[in-house]
Amino acid sequence: GSAEGAAARSGQPLVIAHRGASAYAPENTLAAVDKAHELGIDWVENDVQRTRDGELVVIHDTTLARTTDAARVFPDRAPWKVADFTAAEIARLDAGGWFGSRWAGERVPTLSRYLRTVEANGQKLLLEVKSPELYPGVEGDLLRVLRAEGWLDRSHVARRLVVQSFSAESVRTVHERRPEITTGFLGTPEVADLPGYAEFTDQINPSHTSLTAGLVAAAHRLKGPRGKPLTVHTWTVDDAAGAVRVRDLGVDGIITNRPDVVREALG
Ligand code: G3P
Ligand code: CA
Repeated sequence: GSAEGAAARSGQPLVIAHRGASAYAPENTLAAVDKAHELGIDWVENDVQRTRDGELVVIHDTTLARTTDAARVFPDRAPWKVADFTAAEIARLDAGGWFGSRWAGERVPTLSRYLRTVEANGQKLLLEVKSPELYPGVEGDLLRVLRAEGWLDRSHVARRLVVQSFSAESVRTVHERRPEITTGFLGTPEVADLPGYAEFTDQINPSHTSLTAGLVAAAHRLKGPRGKPLTVHTWTVDDAAGAVRVRDLGVDGIITNRPDVVREALG
C-alpha cells in the first residue's frame, strides 16, 4: 500500500515492524530489517539520532548502554550518550550480542546504510526523529541524507517514506521544509486539538494504551496537509487479541515487534 489510507482501501491495517522485527532480531539493526523482510513485512519502523560528528545513526535509546557493548569498549565514557561519540567510535561497537550470541557482530547502522538495506529489500520506512531536542537542526541533517540517498525522489517519497516524531515541532519543521514527505505525530492529542495537528501531520500515531474509537473517527474526519484524511497508526501491539482490538477501533496501521503474530491475527 501507499504511505496512507491502507485501512480505507483494504479493510486491514498495515503491519509495521517496530525497530525492525525486533522480537526476533536485535532492534534497529540491519538484521532486524532483513528479518522483517523474511517474514514478508514491507514496512519497518526505526529511530534516528545524531553522533558527535554529525552522522545520523539508527538507535532507540539516547545512550549506547543497553543495546551495544559501549560500556566494555569505552569503560570511562559513562553514561555513553550517543551524542558524545563519533560515528567511527560507534562503528566499532557490537549492537547484536546483547540480544543473543548468534547476533554478535551486528552494528549500529548509519541512516544511509539502513536506507540502502530497506531499499534493497523493497521495503518502506516509518522513520522516527528520536529526541530531537538533544540534536538541534537534526531535521536538516535528515533531509540531506534522505536526498543524497534518493529518498526524496518522487517515487520514494510518495510510496516508501513516513517521518514521525513525538516532537510536534520537529514534525512541523519536516513538513514545512519538504511538504511532499508524509508525516506522523507520535502521541494522543485531545480531539479538539486535532485540526491544529492536521496542518502539518498526515498521521496521528498514539500508544495503544490511550487509543479510542473516538480519536480514530475524529482523525478520519479531518484532512491532512495534502488533502487526504488523517490516518492512525498505533504502537506497540504484540499479541493477537490486541491486534484485533485495535483493528476494531479502526486503526490504519499497527506497529509491532511481532509482525507475524499481528498479520496472522488479522487474517
Ligand atoms: O513508532 C512508535 C514507537 O516506536 C514509539 O515509541 O519508544 O518505541 O520509539 P518508541
Ligand atoms: Ca520508535
